[in-house]
Amino acid sequence: MTSSSSTADEPALHPEIDLDHVPRHVAIIMDGNGRWAVDRALERNAGHREGIESVREVIRACRDYGVEVLTLYAFSIENWNRPKGEVSELMRLLEEYLETELAEVMEHGAQVRSIGRLDRLPPSTRRAVEHAVAETAGNQGMKLVFALSYGGRTELVDAARRLARDAELGKIDPEGIDEKAFASYLYAADLPDPDLLIRTGAEQRVSNFLLWQIAYAELHLSERMWPDFRRAEFEAAILDYQRRERRFGLTSEQVRDGEQGGASESVASSARGEAGEGGAS
Ligand code: FPP
Repeated sequence: MTSSSSTADEPALHPEIDLDHVPRHVAIIMDGNGRWAVDRALERNAGHREGIESVREVIRACRDYGVEVLTLYAFSIENWNRPKGEVSELMRLLEEYLETELAEVMEHGAQVRSIGRLDRLPPSTRRAVEHAVAETAGNQGMKLVFALSYGGRTELVDAARRLARDAELGKIDPEGIDEKAFASYLYAADLPDPDLLIRTGAEQRVSNFLLWQIAYAELHLSERMWPDFRRAEFEAAILDYQRRERRFGLTSEQVRDGEQGGASESVASSARGEAGEGGAS
């Protein structure tokens, strides 16, 4: 499959991708950097460095296809247990990336955000993240979310803690807590749930990523290691997504009726966490 030709202003878009059905939010578990490096008799950190080129390409592709939110799992809360040298190199790479790419991120009009327990980051890495977030806060383009020192269970515990505190202060009535109210305590409560979750590295698990938000995400599991996951692989993931029928617990018939003006959209938006209780199975 080939991409159509492009000019400097006009990127080459895959002719089979339906631009009216691009996922609003794509979340990615970038796995396989270490194996990519070991396969080439390189040290693991070489895989992380090469992975940055994939980060660049995927961000550009998201911009070109009009993805509204891209969330990248850059460092999990469990990753703190890796060898010290690897952790410090990942922190250094992240800092370097944020400093050197800020100009391009500004050009994209993208807004950098972060989710996770940033207080555990080394001060210079944390400053680089906060600087990128502050510099891009006024941008109106794609939201580029870095999950850093992030764990899905930790996020739920942090939400529960804040919720309990508000209940104690009488700011929220425990009886009134529904899915929408709970979700409003998550790290990036204003963002839509991921429509598409991509995992590279030939593994088939969710690894504590966005546990609440991926309830109805479509999964694309790639055999490619992250450093080999480039624009063409991203386009293949979008095409895979566009072949799926998203039912949100409804029947195929209901979904088809909905497309012809039926009422199933309200059930679907509810399951996506956009309104009140879900109710879909
Ligand atoms: C998983 O591969 C990847 C990571 C733990 C870190 C991801 C980091 C990058 C892509 C580079 C820096 C990020 C940004 C956003 C600039 P792994 O090491 O677990 O691979 P393995 O399963 O083959 O060992």
